[in-house]
Amino acid sequence: MSSPVINSKLPNVGTTIFTVMSGLANEHKAINLGQGFPDYQMNEELMNKVSEVMQKGWNQYVPMQGYMPLRESIADKVEYLYQTKVDPNTQITITPGGTYAIYTALTTILQPGDEVIIFEPGYDSYIPNVEINGAVPVLIDLKFPEYKIDWDEVRKKVSPKTKAIMLNSPHNPTGAVLTEEDILQLSSIVKGTNIFIVSDEVYEHLIFDNIPHQSILRYPELLERSFVCFSFGKTYNCTGWKLGYCISSPASMVEFRKVHQFNCFCCHTPSQVALADFLKNKNAYLSLSGIMQQKRDHFIKLMKQTKFELLNSSGSYFICAKYDRISDEDDRDFAIRITKEFGVATIPVSVFYKAGTDNKVIRFCFSKNKETLEAAVERLIKI
Ligand SMILES: Cc1ncc(COP(=O)(O)O)c(C=O)c1O
Repeated sequence: MSSPVINSKLPNVGTTIFTVMSGLANEHKAINLGQGFPDYQMNEELMNKVSEVMQKGWNQYVPMQGYMPLRESIADKVEYLYQTKVDPNTQITITPGGTYAIYTALTTILQPGDEVIIFEPGYDSYIPNVEINGAVPVLIDLKFPEYKIDWDEVRKKVSPKTKAIMLNSPHNPTGAVLTEEDILQLSSIVKGTNIFIVSDEVYEHLIFDNIPHQSILRYPELLERSFVCFSFGKTYNCTGWKLGYCISSPASMVEFRKVHQFNCFCCHTPSQVALADFLKNKNAYLSLSGIMQQKRDHFIKLMKQTKFELLNSSGSYFICAKYDRISDEDDRDFAIRITKEFGVATIPVSVFYKAGTDNKVIRFCFSKNKETLEAAVERLIKI
């Protein structure tokens, strides 16, 4: 008997480089500075809280919008950080991670044929999320090597079909961050249009050098047309929790929840109950940028002993590096070779471009123990 044939909704999607590189890293016992996750333990108090609330019986469904006290804690946090009041009842929905929040936002607004402006290099879920909805990604390269947005280019690419602009700050894979000037440019482009903004702010607390995070939440006028997406996994060093949230205008949230309720319905209860309380601990999220900045700075110092040329990183888990003083191989071949021969796994940045643009840059993840970073650089020195 033959099985039915699927007419693929994503015919161009294959195994991602993350799977390939992690597989290679395992096979060659390489130090994995490829995929973005901490290799150290998350906060013990938060772990204990989850376990406590499970013991107390918080193990059944919560409302599909999310556990109300958690939404209230998020609204308090938003007001404290960004001086904007959001209504926990009508503007916040808890989601299984930031990626899901982005997917749901795009699915909520997109009709076949709509266009979405996406900057490259960019997080790998955006383009498939747009395409699975029958919409069209309109790609704009960030200006290399600072990875800044070329707003004149954005003006040229906006069309009557533009339904959304995708933003991500702090940015994966480059560590670039949006400035106030970027927000002004964005505002002038979308004013008076029907364009939505989907803002991926999962690294909101991973921003360095005292730079303020330019959250869309600071700008109530922009929030009216935005879906702003966050991840507890990134904030609390627990990427495997896959828990996050989305904030939008009340009208947009009504539609977002229609999509959400028939996909996931509600998220993991014990984590939400624990986080409702833990979010009140401001230090737990405010201290994160300092801790991660130390890791970045330590890595930068160590890497001075190698032939790599690091680019700037003002946020996220990542820093990119040029390797043209070492090799003229393309970045994929280079990344694969150094995993096999020198035992350090990284990610070639060309994979974050649909057309595979190769600037001879690879991405390192520095959200690792000091010892991991030191052991990796000891190997990289030999290249
Ligand atoms: C830019 C960006 N957005 C979203 C996510 C995913 O967040 P979550 O694990 O909460 O889905 C990541 C994770 O790597 C990311 O780098």
